[in-house]
Amino acid sequence: MGVQRVLVSAPAKVNLALRVGGPRPDGFHPLDTVFVALDIFDDVEVTAADELTCEITGLGEDLPTDETNLAMRAARALHARQRSEGPSGAHISITKRIPVAGGMAGGSADAAATLVALNKLWDLGLSDHQLSHIGADLGSDVPFALKGGIAHGQGRGEHLDEVPVLALHGWALITRSDGLSTPAVFREFDRLNPDAGEPASTADLREALSRGTLDDVAALAVNDLEPAAASLKPELGAMLSELRAGGLHALLSGSGPTIAVLAEPAQLPGLAADLAARYPACSVLTAYGPAAGAHVREAE
Ligand code: C5P
Repeated sequence: MGVQRVLVSAPAKVNLALRVGGPRPDGFHPLDTVFVALDIFDDVEVTAADELTCEITGLGEDLPTDETNLAMRAARALHARQRSEGPSGAHISITKRIPVAGGMAGGSADAAATLVALNKLWDLGLSDHQLSHIGADLGSDVPFALKGGIAHGQGRGEHLDEVPVLALHGWALITRSDGLSTPAVFREFDRLNPDAGEPASTADLREALSRGTLDDVAALAVNDLEPAAASLKPELGAMLSELRAGGLHALLSGSGPTIAVLAEPAQLPGLAADLAARYPACSVLTAYGPAAGAHVREAE
């Protein structure tokens, strides 16, 4: 009997820089971005079964577990890819820790973890490159959730190059229960930037990462979706201004509404406690990055 159970963890991400261009003919926006994987992981456990089923525990217990769930779509895509009549059933159990609809790629992490887990359970032998290719069709952030670390992303985020990293950074993540829809934020970006061309470059930031101090890196951190997210949720703009006025390195994470505050690792616990006291309506998480991409933790 082959493998019956596989447990895979996949990381959350923040974008240390997210530069956005005007929409392409396919509706997606060209990006120039620097992804950082954080050590907040969703776990996906797959067990051998005849049918394909899914359950979610932890955050997002009310998320759909039907065919619209990205993990289910990942399983279907993987099965469709097999030329011979391979297995198509599995029970997928997701333990969510990454905030839902928070701009931290939680859905993409689940899809990435499912691809890695089923590749092993179903003994498909697909390479990282092949999984990444299937993942890119599921969501722009799935290839990065597979890869982890720090990476330069281009295209719609799926073309990745590794960025050499010297330092471990701390992140305080101010999350809220009312999420933002990624397509809605991109639509608002289009409304605010009708003449957007190619995305700006993140070369300066990548250079700073390979040599600089945290202050150098933080000075170049930027997110072009911030005005759009703040336009849809004005309290976000107010919070970002307030945090920056207090000297903190605050940044919108992805399409929001999570606000990520960059900090020296030693300062992180104190900072997180201050932020939790200041914003009692929000939850404050802490994370360190870079962290590993989707990886097998147990297989039996
Ligand atoms: O690729 P993903 O499914 O995560 O994208 C969700 C939505 O976000 C897309 O349908 C699109 O509206 C928007 N998006 C975009 N440009 C990108 C990535 C996402 O317009 N580069």
